[in-house]
Amino acid sequence: MLSRSSASITLFATGLILYGALALPVALAGRPMDQSKSTAGKNPADADVIALGKKVYAAHGCATCHKINGQGGAMGPDLSRTGADPKHTRKWFEAQVTNPKRNNPASTMPAFGQQIKGKPLAALAAYLASLKGPRSASSGGGASAPPAKVAPPDPAIIAKIEQMGGRVGPIAQTDPRLEVSLRMVGNSLTDAALAPLSGLKNVIRLDLGHTGVTDAGLAHLKGWTDVTELHLEQTRITDRGLAFLKGMRQLTYLNLYGTNVTDAGLEHLRGLTNLKSLYVWQTKVTEAGANRLKQALPKVDVVLGWDSTPQK
Ligand code: HEC
Repeated sequence: MLSRSSASITLFATGLILYGALALPVALAGRPMDQSKSTAGKNPADADVIALGKKVYAAHGCATCHKINGQGGAMGPDLSRTGADPKHTRKWFEAQVTNPKRNNPASTMPAFGQQIKGKPLAALAAYLASLKGPRSASSGGGASAPPAKVAPPDPAIIAKIEQMGGRVGPIAQTDPRLEVSLRMVGNSLTDAALAPLSGLKNVIRLDLGHTGVTDAGLAHLKGWTDVTELHLEQTRITDRGLAFLKGMRQLTYLNLYGTNVTDAGLEHLRGLTNLKSLYVWQTKVTEAGANRLKQALPKVDVVLGWDSTPQK
């Protein structure tokens, strides 16, 4: 059995190589003038810059408003093909991120000029310029299958979130689990306002970044065990608040940048075995503290800043 299947893989691979050997000269012959494209993006240094840009994108929560290849929110345009527009140069992307009104005076996108500059900004622009994929959100990539039917959310809680100025909705057309964003409420968001949310089920993505939430507010979220992505960047939460995240065992993404958390707070995260990305730059977390967490959670990528070369 085993040897037969590996034989067919070999055959298949040989077929691919043959096909490639035939197709490549044909493709090249088809466009003798187009030499500029053949080298673009093949440079390994470029690949590193793009990888860094992808991290910067993730770290600043751009995906709460934008989709790339079917992942992310819908408040802003889908960015899967944004690099395919010839007007969209790296300079144009840098302007878009720094001060979106420079490109479009009516833009409602927040300006990130205070937070993203220098090398991270250039890397982000390179990443955006590399996005030339198909726009359709095909889910053929074998990502997590849509779950079985979930109970519809309590309309009274939805109404409360919307009254506050927050947003709540399904994470995708084919997936009724919820994403909740209160980022737009900003500093006026109080901890008490989060109390009614504690009854909400099936929340996968929660954005409390740039809001007035403190440790006491997180106590209301103790029962939210399905959350995979949590934004707490630029809030007043401290180590004590992180204790309330212990039950969020599905968490893969946690953004704590610009908060007062320290190495001691990371101890509360040791049981989050699914955690892959942890953003703690502009906090009091040290490299030693990050390394201690990595001993417990070898899969986690702890981002302490942008000046080092991106880790793999
Ligand atoms: C609060 C929601 C929100 C966030 C967060 C946000 N954007 Fe936007 N973005 C928008 C909206 C709305 C537009 C459309 C208006 C405009 O063109 O400026 C937009 C437009 C864009 C465009 C132009 C797309 C095109 O093809 O015309 C790019 C590129 C972009 N955003 C990148 C980013 C990046 C990178 C980040 C993170 C640093 C980010 N956005 C964060 C809402 C957001």
